[in-house]
Parts: sequence; C-alpha cells; structure tokens
Amino acid sequence: MPILPIIHYPNPILKTPCDTLRKELPGVEQLIKDMQDTLMAYPFCVGLAAPQVGSLLRIVVIDCSRSRKPCKHHGNLVLINPVIIYRAGEQVMREGCLSLPDYTGNVKRPDAVVVEGLDSDEIPQKIETEGFEAVVLQHEIDHLDGILFLDRITSLKTDVFRRKTY
Ligand code: NI
Repeated sequence: MPILPIIHYPNPILKTPCDTLRKELPGVEQLIKDMQDTLMAYPFCVGLAAPQVGSLLRIVVIDCSRSRKPCKHHGNLVLINPVIIYRAGEQVMREGCLSLPDYTGNVKRPDAVVVEGLDSDEIPQKIETEGFEAVVLQHEIDHLDGILFLDRITSLKTDVFRRKTY
C-alpha cells in the first residue's frame, strides 16, 4: 500500500492541465489504489487529484464519508475523465488542500453539480450532488485543469486564512 508523496504549491505540475485518459494505460489501476491509500493516510481528507501525486491524468478519488461535517454523500468515488455537465446555485465554503497545507480559503462555487465520468472499471457514472460533496468534486476537478482554490479566491486579503489546526 504505497502512500505517495504530495506535490506542494508552487510546483508547476499543479498548474498543468491533465490529459484525458483515452485507453488503458499500464499502471493506472495501481495509481488509483495508491491514490486511495494516500487519501486514507490523511485524517479527514476527502479528495485527491492525480496531479497532486505527480500524475497528469484526469483521475480523482473522493470520499466525503471521511469528513468531520455530516453531509449527504456517495461514499468512496473514483472518477476517470470527470466532466461537470450541470451547475446550479451558489455557495461559499471554507476549502483546504493537501497541496497548500498552510492555508484555507473562502471559495464561491455553484451549490449543486452533476458530474459524469468513469469508475475504476471504466463503467460510466453520473453523480448528482450538492453542498459539501459538490464543492469537493469541483475542487478536485479543478486540479485536473491546473486550477487551485487560491485561483478562485475573490480577495487574498479577506478570504485566505493561515491554518491553525490540521
Ligand atoms: Ni486540493
């Protein structure tokens, strides 16, 4: 169960858009397992995107059941080539990121999303969700486009905070 090292800001890998996974690549199954093990290694961590472990493929792993806050969720999710096909509403939530361990920020995003992608068996999935899990999905999919939560902050003065607890 290898736990992969996390890439930290300002490593340029985090700013690089990822490639769509078009065919079965050797090592992808292991990469997904390692991403899940890495997620589990961080208490309360709810999501991880492939570039955070140095792989520029469109893969995210998410598990909002690990959150401290009670929320509706779909449990353990693996999404390959996830695409947000619907967005609605608006919410502001405090976000953090393993790649930016010293900061959190208030980020405004749509409140509800529908996401399509493939699971680890390449079976098409459609996830309809809202609230916290919708934020997590958007945050992780942003990573695949080289976007960090800091890029979505309105004001660095008022909306970014130094982390006091981890
Ligand atoms: Ni992140």
